Amino acid sequence: MEKFLIKGSPYKGIKGTIKCNGAKNAVLPLMASSILFDNTVTLKNVPIGAKDIETMIVLLRSLGSKVTIFKTKKILKIQNKKKHKLLVKYKYISTMRAGVLAMGALLGKYNKCLTALSGGCSLGPRPIGYHLAGFQKLNCNYSLKKGYINIFSKSGIKGNNYCFPKVSVTGTSNLILASVLANGTTKLKNISIEPEVIDLIKFLRNGGAKINFIGRRTLKIDGVKKLNGHSHYVIGDRIEAFSYLCAAAITKGKIKIEKINPKHLEQELKILKNIGCSIKFGKSFIELKRKNKIKPVEIKTAPFPGFATDCMPMLMAVLTKSNGKSKINESIFSNRYMAAPELVRMGAKITIKKQKAIIIGTDKLNGADCICSDLRSTFAIILGAMAADGKSCISRVYHGLRGYSDLYNNLKKIGVNITKKLNG
Ligand code: EPU
Repeated sequence: MEKFLIKGSPYKGIKGTIKCNGAKNAVLPLMASSILFDNTVTLKNVPIGAKDIETMIVLLRSLGSKVTIFKTKKILKIQNKKKHKLLVKYKYISTMRAGVLAMGALLGKYNKCLTALSGGCSLGPRPIGYHLAGFQKLNCNYSLKKGYINIFSKSGIKGNNYCFPKVSVTGTSNLILASVLANGTTKLKNISIEPEVIDLIKFLRNGGAKINFIGRRTLKIDGVKKLNGHSHYVIGDRIEAFSYLCAAAITKGKIKIEKINPKHLEQELKILKNIGCSIKFGKSFIELKRKNKIKPVEIKTAPFPGFATDCMPMLMAVLTKSNGKSKINESIFSNRYMAAPELVRMGAKITIKKQKAIIIGTDKLNGADCICSDLRSTFAIILGAMAADGKSCISRVYHGLRGYSDLYNNLKKIGVNITKKLNG
């Protein structure tokens, strides 16, 4: 297992330019949606090195899709020459929750599938009750046996109305996938409007799907007979962009992020400004410079356009160096503070009560040995290590590699004193 050794440089800010990768959380539903197409789908700007993308490639291949990877061009071509197998194995769902998106696509195309049920993950329980309730509305029945959901529609998927009790990103994508080829019209209410979901809608529309917004969070989907394969350029990864912006914020550095739409980070950029960072942006770049002391702030995470839960761990790390008391209220997941105990080992002052965190800023962090336990907390721990005095040895960085392509090289490129230790 790979470890990162980081020698912090609290008095020397990081500096440089990062070209943002395509968004992992956009590519995964796009890849799952390829099941619905009769001919070739081409995805450009794919973060090929991110582990979750590799897992989705293996999952699609296990179903029978032909996936060709053009690594240096960051392109995936997905062809469906034969009927898919209808079994999504546990090994894919257990390592990557987005595997559940194959369910909506297989249902949409073949009216049935057998899919492993996702359990929890380190963020807390990850239920799919909304997905299943929505599929039932679309004329499906299901039963659970030995950890697998057998879901089917005897007389075919039929359009209907479904209102999500709470906004769900993957739930929205899954219901869209099941509805685009359905008989009749589906109305989905209280949907997620995360940029990654909008990218999926755009992709499906360009393939011939009839999907329209009839309210801010309401979609009308008129089923079509087939979708035509085409090529699509994936949006930049807003969470990756935010992570590297935080690297400059915590080290008093300067960074430019390219290939990112700043509109996808409006709320997050506002908070970075509030804590004292100076920010410039254009159509597809963001620049951040931090000169002064970090100011404390209060935030509550929320679905887009609110402050993203995925950005929260990195902001928490930055706030450990503020000059006052910050408060975070995590409203999406029950266990999203996995970086906190590790940052505390570096000397950060963080108290967690249920889903709320209080962070009292301190001038000095000290390097320490740390263990990562989820994707975003890995980056938060790396941020702490960058801003700490002395060395940190960070284990289980494979959690971070699930979602950050080129992580090690990018950190090196912006001046982080980092080395890799294998088999440690
Ligand atoms: N929820 C239910 N029932 C459901 C579905 C969701 O109660 O059937 C609850 C969840 O427990 C949670 C809330 O609804 O409290 C929101 O969950 P959501 O379904 O939106 O999460 P997700 O779709 O499983 C995606 C991202 C996550 C990101 C969340 C929230 C992907 C592949 N994953 O998860 O990304 O944190 O939305 O924005 O898109 C990450 O990239 O690090 C990551 C965890």
